[in-house]
Amino acid sequence: MCGIVGYVGTRDAIPVLVEGLHRLEYRGYDSAGVAVVRRGKVVVTKAAGRVQELRDRLTKPTPSTIGIAHTRWATHGEPSDRNAHPHLDAEGRIAVVHNGIIENAKQLRARLGAAGVELVSETDTEAIAHLIAAELAAGAGSLEDAVRAALRQVEGTYGLVVLDRTRPDELVVARNGSPIVLGIGEGEMFVASDVAALVHHTQRVVFLDDGELATVRAGEYRTSTLEARRTSKEPTTVDMVADDYELGGHPDFMRKEMAEQPEAVERALRGRLDERFATAHLGGLGLDAMALRAVRRVKFLGCGSAYYAGQLGANLVEELARIPADAEPASEFRYRNPVVDPDTLYVAISQSGETLDTLAAVQELRRKGGRVIGAVNVVGSAVARECGSGVFLHAGPEVSVASTKAMTNMTVSFAMLALLLGRVRDLSAASGQRIVAGLRALPARIEEVLGDDAAIREVAKRHAGAKHMFFLGRVRGWPVAREGAQKLKEISYVHAEAYQSAELKHGPLALIDADMPSVVVVPDDELLSKNLGTIEQIKARGGPVIAVTNADLPEGLADDVIRVSRGEPELDPIVLTVALQLLAYHLAVELGRDVDKPRNLAKSVTVE
Ligand code: G6P
Repeated sequence: MCGIVGYVGTRDAIPVLVEGLHRLEYRGYDSAGVAVVRRGKVVVTKAAGRVQELRDRLTKPTPSTIGIAHTRWATHGEPSDRNAHPHLDAEGRIAVVHNGIIENAKQLRARLGAAGVELVSETDTEAIAHLIAAELAAGAGSLEDAVRAALRQVEGTYGLVVLDRTRPDELVVARNGSPIVLGIGEGEMFVASDVAALVHHTQRVVFLDDGELATVRAGEYRTSTLEARRTSKEPTTVDMVADDYELGGHPDFMRKEMAEQPEAVERALRGRLDERFATAHLGGLGLDAMALRAVRRVKFLGCGSAYYAGQLGANLVEELARIPADAEPASEFRYRNPVVDPDTLYVAISQSGETLDTLAAVQELRRKGGRVIGAVNVVGSAVARECGSGVFLHAGPEVSVASTKAMTNMTVSFAMLALLLGRVRDLSAASGQRIVAGLRALPARIEEVLGDDAAIREVAKRHAGAKHMFFLGRVRGWPVAREGAQKLKEISYVHAEAYQSAELKHGPLALIDADMPSVVVVPDDELLSKNLGTIEQIKARGGPVIAVTNADLPEGLADDVIRVSRGEPELDPIVLTVALQLLAYHLAVELGRDVDKPRNLAKSVTVE
């Protein structure tokens, strides 16, 4: 969501901080700001808009060896210079950058106001700066003590970094619900909300846990809990490298990450397929054959594309394992006092592992004694840790807001889970073999779709004038259609709606005319003739049709055809989804959109 960077060392801090912000911009981007200490003063520069606007404002050199910086995605207060972080206390002594939401901000602000403090922003964060300053004024022994005392009054989530102009050699950081990671350099230390901002400088990192604080100096760090108990944290080495966050010749990250899919799928499958027993090995699940057999139902929980991946997963589980399965948005699940069934296997899906709604669903499940596993891309993330077991997606870092390779790897992982659940039940070895071979064939099939780029671009160009679009599919094609519509709306801002094909005639058909193109997902399966019927219905009302298919359609039936290869029918939705990524991508590019940074969206949504 928002991004945090901090630096203390020997270099000029501002270039390091701004560079870090650029790397985090994908997480949230409506304003940015930086604070450094210069000649005993906190010097703050802020700008509404992108990090580039901030950079343009930083024309005067302000040499300093310590600083904090932030890129924001508005929650409290509109995006403006005033609401951009860092926030200061009344005297300009303390500067704070913060991710997360302070739930009792209103009360804290009222209390501060009553005590005569003038709050200059509408944010929840500003209160923290005033609280810390008050603790120092009241005689707190150290900045860390003051931060600790202030945080005891705070309810909500935070990842924060605090700078004190009277201590220009240390930063105090704290984490509760929003990630904070320390990067250890040679005589310098970095702080960030995401390793993406660090890997350029160091791969040795320390992840803070919830409820932990740290005092960070150029050559050392010291961690402790909110209760002032010392903790000892060994640095770990992350395997992300700077290249993962570089475009490497691609015009944008979405394109780069779509192109990486064959390789990403290859990684997800590596060491997990077993030809001999026609099954999959998912060691991280921590479930033996008996436990797998005891599963009577599977429920997938996630948000956005992760939810649609769950829907594809539910289909796969029902088809291959013949166990009832469904998917539900994690946000709905957590709020409806769900009936948690001890015989259900719950799967929490999240690329980032930080999405608050998904995390909260996991916590609700654990509280009620549900069995929940994670399907997570970011190792060490909150959802992964909370679940304790599951399947890592191995998609590699995903930067583009619109999920592509991570979403694909989610579905591939669910195909393996379905295969495994099937093979401890009645899925025959021959069918298992067929799925194993089908999975092995996926990287090459995805490569083929990617190779069809120019043709898909032409289709996108022909429909770039549309204001609205339908995405239609049935059964296997239904989640594909939903994800296709999601991709299109999020990056192109074209209104796109997904419908089950048969539902068309129960209302939406009234909207079909020459200006309403329909993208119809037509897998080559037993429902082919039904899908052809859907296309006929639309054509009869003068609606343009783009068929995305691996079947042989009657000549001239659809206006445009995006064709993918034939494989195992259960797995075909995975390949069809990739074709729809490209369609959405090219439409967005055609409309001149900034595909990596769609308006109003953020990569990981750590608020409700
Ligand atoms: C945001 C992103 C989506 C993503 C969803 C879930 O809304 O824009 O692309 O699918 O969050 O994110 P997660 O990290 O939990 O998979």
